[in-house]
Amino acid sequence: MNVYGEVFAGFYDRRFGAYAEKAAPYLLRFYALLPDSLAHLPILDLGCGTGRLALRFLEAGHAFVGLDQSSHMLFLAENRCRRFVLERKGRFLQEDISRFQIGGPFGMVVSTYNVLNHLESEEKLRLCFRSVRRCLAEEGRFLFDFQTLRGIHEWASTESAQWEAEHIQCRGELDETRGTACMHLKGEVEGNAFEEEIVNYAYPLEKVIRWLGEEGFKRPDFFRIDDLKTPLQEPEKQNRVVVVAA
Ligand SMILES: C[S@@+](CC[C@H](N)C(=O)[O-])C[C@H]1O[C@@H](n2cnc3c(N)ncnc32)[C@H](O)[C@@H]1O
Repeated sequence: MNVYGEVFAGFYDRRFGAYAEKAAPYLLRFYALLPDSLAHLPILDLGCGTGRLALRFLEAGHAFVGLDQSSHMLFLAENRCRRFVLERKGRFLQEDISRFQIGGPFGMVVSTYNVLNHLESEEKLRLCFRSVRRCLAEEGRFLFDFQTLRGIHEWASTESAQWEAEHIQCRGELDETRGTACMHLKGEVEGNAFEEEIVNYAYPLEKVIRWLGEEGFKRPDFFRIDDLKTPLQEPEKQNRVVVVAA
């Protein structure tokens, strides 16, 4: 489960990479508006995937560290950002984001496209928050997107499709009582077969607020990725929210 193997990593990059690309300009703008004291600090990306967000930040002059548990996703990330890796401005490390220890301080810790929804327990989510708190600069921000309960419901039903042109079968399955959605993907890319199960866990946002608070963060605000200035009044009614904690 949530393996992101070799064949799937390439498929993911082509099929889903656009999400991080679209998020990048909003995140860059958000970071530019934070206090000047953060401007020279590196950025940390949890579940950096194939490095699309990394490349945008590196190109904008920020040092960047990406963590991911999949060596195959990291391989693509390193390739994509090779120039910056050679200059030692970009680093990609194989780590479990629910228990990592890294220096710092980082000006911002980001995570895009449901990565934190991959953590399957309250304990793992809290350990992740604790690790972030330890490496985040005093005035820094922790910003991650998160599928709500409503969001995983939608995800499990609308993504259920067969991408015939790509010979991929995709079936979503919802377990409403556990608040989980499982996406089964099966197919072939250029003659190579793969099978993956991506499981997303949704947690009530009130709990996320409480756990963040207990790990040393102030009460977070919730936004849409394309408007990181106007807090949402009813975040639980969205499919996906961006959580910003300090
Ligand atoms: C949906 S992808 C998102 C990738 C990238 N952030 C993006 O926006 O395209 C989820 C990523 O999180 C990684 N991941 C999932 N659970 C993880 C964990 N516990 N520790 C580290 N990485 C994890 C996966 O390997 C995968 O690369």
